Parts: sequence; structure tokens; C-alpha cells
Amino acid sequence: MAIKLVTTAAELRAEGARLLKEKGGSSLGFVPTMGALHSGHATLARTAVAANDVTAASIFVNPLQFGDAVDLDRYPRTLEADMDLLDAEGVDLVFAPSVEEVYPDGQPLVRVTSGPLGEKWEGASRPGHFDGALTVVAKLLHYALPIGGLPAGSAADGGAAAYRAYFGQKDAQQLALVRRMVADLNFPVEIVAVPTVRAEDGLALSSRNRFLSAEEREAALVLSRALRLLEQRADAHEPLDLPSAVELVRSQPLVELDYFDVVDPRTLEPLAENCQDTPFRGEGLAIIAAKVGPVRLIDNIPLNS
Ligand code: PAJ
Repeated sequence: MAIKLVTTAAELRAEGARLLKEKGGSSLGFVPTMGALHSGHATLARTAVAANDVTAASIFVNPLQFGDAVDLDRYPRTLEADMDLLDAEGVDLVFAPSVEEVYPDGQPLVRVTSGPLGEKWEGASRPGHFDGALTVVAKLLHYALPIGGLPAGSAADGGAAAYRAYFGQKDAQQLALVRRMVADLNFPVEIVAVPTVRAEDGLALSSRNRFLSAEEREAALVLSRALRLLEQRADAHEPLDLPSAVELVRSQPLVELDYFDVVDPRTLEPLAENCQDTPFRGEGLAIIAAKVGPVRLIDNIPLNS
């Protein structure tokens, strides 16, 4: 196995710097995850490896972003399989720290506040979740930051020095928040969004899908179907008629809809007037969340017209 596993921030720094020097590299890609990796994560890793000289990933189940201790406990931990998957994608380095390494003094007193953008949609049903997620993303981005800067890329390969971090469009609110944090707090990193990876039948891949029964999984397909319906209407310059798509989801008895709306991709504010009976114009994001059996699922689709 070519991939290297480190468990401390000091080793991550040292090994990252050593690999960059060894490869004469000028760009570092970083892929933060909580493990239990699937093809969605693999696509993030592949995208990072293709664009950077050295790629590091992190695997850390962050207690700070779980409201529920049971949810935290049952989060799947599959380090060996995760390492194999990342190795196959060409990732150079994996950082899998302990909780004590990340939070040596217990819960941090000072945290990143996600603000109003973190209180709506997913934030409304998971209080504190995005503060916890942003706090650990801030820490992880700092841990992996190539200290001393990256050597400037040579003119021959056209590459400028770069530090890039990769996030999935699947978690649209997290992505919007990470973008805002990096912009508002001047983090020296470029955030790259990777489109949602789906199963053949349309279900967005998620480490939670394993908790769905066959029947629930079938029922869950209504989420991606309803999103696809809106996408088709936007592409055809037709009115979105959001209420009919909401009805489609509500007609599935195993699915308990939480929210389904069309929002501005950056502010996540509803674009209500644009979504009813006039042709959809501009850029939007259809977002949906529902409980299916024991599992809360989220999905979204970008709309452009
Ligand atoms: P996790 O759920 O492990 O996801 C890690 C990354 O993979 C996130 O950027 C997520 O958006 C992306 N991802 C998950 N499913 C995907 C899919 N089907 N297609 C494309 N990308 C997908 O998100 C987290 O971890 C944590 O909150 C983290 C950012 C690591 C902070 O703890």
C-alpha cells in the first residue's frame, strides 16, 4: 500500500511537507471526511488527486457536530476499508486523529459560529450541528495547511501554487457555509465543490443509506425523482410548480417530508416567487430533507435556466 496513515497533526504537517518536496510539488489537495467511505467520497478523492501534486484526506468522526450520542456511537467506523478506497484513488496521506488529538482540552470554549445561514434548513432540526462542523473544518484546514507556503509552480506545467479543499455538493448547506467561512475569515484555501454522486437508481450516496430496509430504500427514491422533475422543468424553461413536486413526495407513505424548497445557492433564501407558475429564470438550488424509516436523508439539485 503506497498510502501513509498518520494520527497526529505534527505528523500530518511533516509528512505533507516531505511529500511535496519529494514530488517537487506546488499544490496540495485536502479531502476532509468522517470515514465509512463510499463512491461519493472516492469521487472527491479522485478529483483532488487529478488536480494536485499531493493529496491528503482526513477521517475523523467529529463529536462536536453530533447532537445525539446514539447517532455518534452508531456512526460506522471502517478504517481499513477506507484506507483501501483512498489508496486505490491515489491519495498519498490519511490523517485519522483521535478525539483527544483534535480536542486535547475537551470541548473547545471558542468555536466557529455558523450564524443565520447555519440555523435554517438542516440547522433547524440539528441545533449546533453546523457550529460543530465548521469548527472542525477550520481546525482540519489549519492542520493540513502547508506551513511555509507552497513553492510556486513552474511555468512549464502551468501550475500556480495552491492549497485546495474538496467538499461534496451533496451537503449543500455545509458547502455554502464552508465557502462563507473561508471568505469571511480569510482562510488561505480554495474550496472546490464536487457534484453529488448517485446510485444508478438516483439515490444520492450516503453512509446512512445502509440503515434503510429494501422497502424504505425504494420509497426514498421519491426524493431524487421529485428533484429531477424540477430540474427537467427548469431545463425546459417551464414553471417549476413546486407544489406539485411536494405533493409527489407526500404521496409516498414511508417518507416523512421535513422541507422541500428552491433557494439561492449562496444565501439559501427561498426563491418563492420564481418557483410557482412563471417559467424559472436564473440560478437556484432545489433542496429536500425527509425521514425515511430511521434515517434522515438530504438531497439537492442545482437549477439553471
Ligand atoms: P462526510 O459525511 O464523511 O462527507 C465528507 C465529504 O464527502 C463531504 O464534503 C460530503 O459532502 C461529501 N459527500 C458525501 N456524500 C457524497 C455524494 N453522494 N456525492 C458527493 N460528495 C459526497 O461532511 C462531512 O463528512 C463532515 O461534516 C466533515 C466536512 C468531514 C466535517 O466533519
